[in-house]
Amino acid sequence: MRLFVATAAPARQKTDCAIVGVHEGGSFAGAGALLDTALRGRLARLLKSGDVRGNPGELRMVDVEGAACARVLVVGLGKQGSFRRKQYRKALVAALGAVAKTGARDAVSYLAECVEPADDYYDARLAAEAVGSALYRVPAIRSTRKAPEPALGAFGFAVRNGSQKAQAQRGLDHGHAIAAGMALTRNLANLPGNVCTPTYLGQQAKELARSHASVHAQVLEERELKRLKMGSFLSVTNGTEQPAKLIVLRYDGGRAGQAPVVLVGKGVTFDSGGISLKQPPGMDEMKFDMTGAASVFGAIEAAATMQLKLNLVGVVPACENMPSGRASRPGDIVRSMSGQTIEVLNTDAEGRLILCDALTYARRFKPAVVVDIATLTGACVIALGAHNSAVMSNDDELAGELVAAGRRAEDTCWHMPMGEEYHDQLKSNFADFANACGREGGAITAACFLAKFTDGLRWAHLDIAGTAYLTGANKGSTGRPVPLLMDFLIART
Ligand code: BES
Ligand code: MN
Ligand code: ZN
Repeated sequence: MRLFVATAAPARQKTDCAIVGVHEGGSFAGAGALLDTALRGRLARLLKSGDVRGNPGELRMVDVEGAACARVLVVGLGKQGSFRRKQYRKALVAALGAVAKTGARDAVSYLAECVEPADDYYDARLAAEAVGSALYRVPAIRSTRKAPEPALGAFGFAVRNGSQKAQAQRGLDHGHAIAAGMALTRNLANLPGNVCTPTYLGQQAKELARSHASVHAQVLEERELKRLKMGSFLSVTNGTEQPAKLIVLRYDGGRAGQAPVVLVGKGVTFDSGGISLKQPPGMDEMKFDMTGAASVFGAIEAAATMQLKLNLVGVVPACENMPSGRASRPGDIVRSMSGQTIEVLNTDAEGRLILCDALTYARRFKPAVVVDIATLTGACVIALGAHNSAVMSNDDELAGELVAAGRRAEDTCWHMPMGEEYHDQLKSNFADFANACGREGGAITAACFLAKFTDGLRWAHLDIAGTAYLTGANKGSTGRPVPLLMDFLIART
């Protein structure tokens, strides 16, 4: 996909499809009005006849003659003043989806001039991400022939004057890289558990390193995890035939010796619950339980593609949670790499058991900050639904940076509290603490468990259980929270 900043006058901009917006009850303005003049009122007549109303979500494709474009796609923007970045992104994804269904080989969008408030960098970046979303296809495993690829191969982001060009180009470049990262995350997360095993994730890490000279991968085997005394991580993998891996990815974009950001991603390639077996409905969705890991891969791919000037380390504990005669039982006590002992009251609270050892391992990189990303709790889905990830941290300022990054990137998260009262829920009569407790505040008590391994670290935890994937007819990975992570990282450069 070629992404470019389009600066020609709308009537003279050569393209297979010009994308323009119109407000509910409004008339064409800006580029739309200029095009309409060249087209001798063709667009205005659509409004007059009531064929187009400007409702949000409305799309109307028209073949035209009289301008340099072959088609115009009119996009409904809703009420004046309500077309913000969120609506803009949604409208662009829908518009590009419609364009991709035609034979158009390129398109130019004029929608950014309708966004309130306008921001050349973010409007261009979101446009590039929308192109990626609109063209993304699930790697379906079918016996029938694949649908033909869309012809769309180039996308123009229109600006009114040359002074906007530099910021717009930077936004397109970043958006292109973020879209590449999201596509990797989605591809990995969408794969079934019998394909995307810990071994497969290890191979993909090596693959990522092969495709970027700035990325290095190391895959630690179970015997090395034993030597590291990762008793908590290893207890989760007891029941499966699949060997566990600890994957370490390094992206060197900053100066040598600069403290890295460490991203830790939960990589449970399938979470059956183990002996605390889950209920059958929806259990297939537990193939997405490695989305934290996939988002770390995606962030590293994006960072390398945009040549971000910082050092980044990804730590991914990857394993499968299965029941068997060798599986951990409720009541088992394990010793984590930190030395702290854990009573495993529920084998389905496995994410925290693998993350705690990965967090301890992360210390060796002397990180500036550590952010872990995990589909950690069903309670998080109850608390925040599918719209916001949860962020919990031992540093309010860090949590604030993540919340702000999410807002800017249109990939939001919400800061949830932690405190002594919640910690008390994890008390155990038999070990230092338990891995599970009552259902109240479940997302928070999970974060409290992780916090016990982060003394002296600047650490935040993102629970993405609600945002990582969609259920129902559009079941599949969303690519979140890659945009949030990338905005957070870009802001640190
Ligand atoms: N992977 C699940 C969390 C999850 C649930 C993600 C639903 C996405 C959708 C996690 O390993 C889990 O099973 N958590 C338990 C914890 C409980 C046993 C303390 C949960 O949320 O029920
Ligand atoms: Mn579980
Ligand atoms: Zn899980």
